[in-house]
Formats: sequence, structure tokens, C-alpha cells
Amino acid sequence: MASKTLDDLFHETLKDIYYAERQIVKALPKMARGAQDPKLKAAFEKHKEETEGQIDRLKQVFEIIGKRAQGKTCPAIDGIIEEGEEILDEFKGTPALDAGLLAAAQAVEHYEISRYGTLRAWAQQLGHREAVTLLEQTLAEESKTDEALTGLAKTAVNTAAQKAA
Ligand SMILES: [Fe+2]
Ligand SMILES: [Fe+2]
Repeated sequence: MASKTLDDLFHETLKDIYYAERQIVKALPKMARGAQDPKLKAAFEKHKEETEGQIDRLKQVFEIIGKRAQGKTCPAIDGIIEEGEEILDEFKGTPALDAGLLAAAQAVEHYEISRYGTLRAWAQQLGHREAVTLLEQTLAEESKTDEALTGLAKTAVNTAAQKAA
């Protein structure tokens, strides 16, 4: 069996997040449609646009390592998105829907932050400097999104969820 190195791990993890981003870009419009608070809706829509740019960046990273852009099924993101869909279903029409959707979106962001943090560190180790820059740009967007969601939860969404319909 051929020995596997950090190059292989980097490539495999890139495929993982590429798959994840392509699932996320499909899930965000559903979450935006479901959200009741206009600010939460707008946050999901904005992040959908950003996610399209993130997919483009990943394609550039594949190019940098001389591989074709290709995804690999990631059961972790599938599960997180599925939980979001459950919230959409089970909390439809209730005051708690937005708080549930927001929490599901933050779980997605945290998964991404974990992946991009690792990929950035590995790109650094492997000397892929251009990839480091690209991965850092995305990591910054994911972190900003996470912070914006926390802000919305604290200022509006959680309070609204506590009220009786
Ligand atoms: Fe993303
Ligand atoms: Fe994200």
C-alpha cells in the first residue's frame, strides 16, 4: 500500500469541503425562505452569495495543487443540513422557528470554520502560499457570518422565540 502523506490529507479534505459548500449553497435558499425575521432572511441570502464565491476559491485551490475540482460525500455536513431541515419542518409557523434555523446555520459555520482552519494550516505546511490566502479569505467570511448570527440571536431572534404565538 502506497504511503499517504499530508498532500493526500489536504486533497481529501479539500474534496470534503467542496462537497459541503455545494450542499450548503443549495440549503441556504431554503433557510432564507423559511426565516421569518427579515434580517435573518437577509443574512442567509448574503451568505449564499458568499458561498458561491467560496466554491470558486476552492476550484482555484484544486488548480494550485494540480487536481481536478471534485467533491467527496461528507456525511457530517449532510447530517447537519438534515437537522436544519427537521427544524424547518417541525417548527414551521411557530415563534421558535428562526432561533432553530439560526442555530442550525451556526452548526454549519462551525463545521466550515473547523475545516478551513485545518486546510489553511496544512496549506501553510505544504508551502501552497496562494492557497493559504484563498483559504484565509473564506475562513474570515465564515467567522464573520458566525458572529453576525450570534448578534442576531442576541438582539432579536432568541427573544422572539421565547414569546407565545
Ligand atoms: Fe462556506
Ligand atoms: Fe458558511
